[in-house]
Amino acid sequence: MTPLRIGIAGSGFAARFHHQNLRSLPAATTAVTSLRPESREAFAREFGVAAYASVEEMLPHIDVLDICTPPSSHAPYIRAAAQAGKHVIVEKPFHGFFGSPETYSKEEMLAAVGDELRALRRTVAESGILLGYAENYIYAPSIQRERQLLEATKAQILRMTAEESHRGSHSPFYGIWAEQGGGSLIGKGCHPLGGVLYLKRKEGLARRGSPIRPAAVSCRTHSITRNPLFEDRGYLRTDYQDTEDYALIHVIFEDGMVADVMTSELVLGGVYDFVEVFANNHRTRCHIQPVKVVDLYSPSHREFADLDLMEKISSNEGWIPVYPEYGWSNGQYYEMRDFVHAFREGRQPECDLELAIDITLAIYAGYVSASRKGAEVEVPRL
Ligand SMILES: NC(=O)c1ccc[n+]([C@@H]2O[C@H](COP(=O)([O-])OP(=O)(O)OC[C@H]3O[C@@H](n4cnc5c(N)ncnc54)[C@H](O)[C@@H]3O)[C@@H](O)[C@H]2O)c1
Repeated sequence: MTPLRIGIAGSGFAARFHHQNLRSLPAATTAVTSLRPESREAFAREFGVAAYASVEEMLPHIDVLDICTPPSSHAPYIRAAAQAGKHVIVEKPFHGFFGSPETYSKEEMLAAVGDELRALRRTVAESGILLGYAENYIYAPSIQRERQLLEATKAQILRMTAEESHRGSHSPFYGIWAEQGGGSLIGKGCHPLGGVLYLKRKEGLARRGSPIRPAAVSCRTHSITRNPLFEDRGYLRTDYQDTEDYALIHVIFEDGMVADVMTSELVLGGVYDFVEVFANNHRTRCHIQPVKVVDLYSPSHREFADLDLMEKISSNEGWIPVYPEYGWSNGQYYEMRDFVHAFREGRQPECDLELAIDITLAIYAGYVSASRKGAEVEVPRL
């Protein structure tokens, strides 16, 4: 079987774990491009792949463009790949509005994002390519277990709570709206929001043959670390320029059932990621990270100072719920497996363009709601 040739755009954090998660799949990274020549060449040397100066130069040499660059480049790169007839993997957040919140209202942002999503959907459909949206929560083993339970028992989800939080992103561009399209809600909240939208979608398909989609949202956002009364003890990142570091979004689905998603940059102790489902016949707490598989006791931070034991934990000392391997419980390994097999088989991946569109519209409807102090806002239909 000839392996699919994957070309990665970006050579940072996400590019590395995407590359590593292609192991033992009928696919291989064969090419890389990123903005800075020194970083793409270093990546190319380390992994034995070809370096190209741009996505356009790389496209003729690959079967799949894997977009691991900052969010503002996702839409143009999807368009370039579609025009070249190449399948796409694209990291979260799928798309956003990359202009200053000083200049544009949240209503203008929602309208512009809706227009761009409509255009992207048309481009992808006309090109005949397949697109995998790399929302790893969809592929987390705990979420997939819950999907099986829903499908097997035709359960009805009444409410969900979900969260992704930690002590702040590593990226210097995080915290700048024009780079990221928002703050915690889009940067982190997209994960648990993706999880709850996916489960309700699967419930709908199992019970009535069509997805149950988000109908409206109420949302609040806050900038806690910019609050003059915040006392900084130095454990949290605090340099957010014009984005929120806390968000709470309440989703009302088409069937009147609900989900509450929290997200923030204010949580110590490593990543805090879960989805809890309250159904009419069961209750499930889906742990994304941490998961209780290996508990490590480290008598001193010096013992494991250079090892990656748990994402975003600030100290490698004491009892630590270490992951068996990065990307296992949070679904990142399984997403690449689905994408590669979907592209080979010519089928839609489990996390597809339609789910990416729903997540993005719910986020920007959320920003409109937050600008109105939590008033209910309809999630538009394209
Ligand atoms: N699913 C997850 O858990 C997860 C985790 C981290 C990052 N991400 C996502 O992955 C994407 C990249 O994040 P990261 O953490 O790897 O960032 P990073 O800063 O570590 O790496 C970004 C890379 O993209 C390159 N780059 C920037 N603009 C570019 C452009 N226009 N064209 C080509 N290359 C460009 C940079 O040179 C760098 O190599 C983001 O969308 C982020 O949200 C997802």
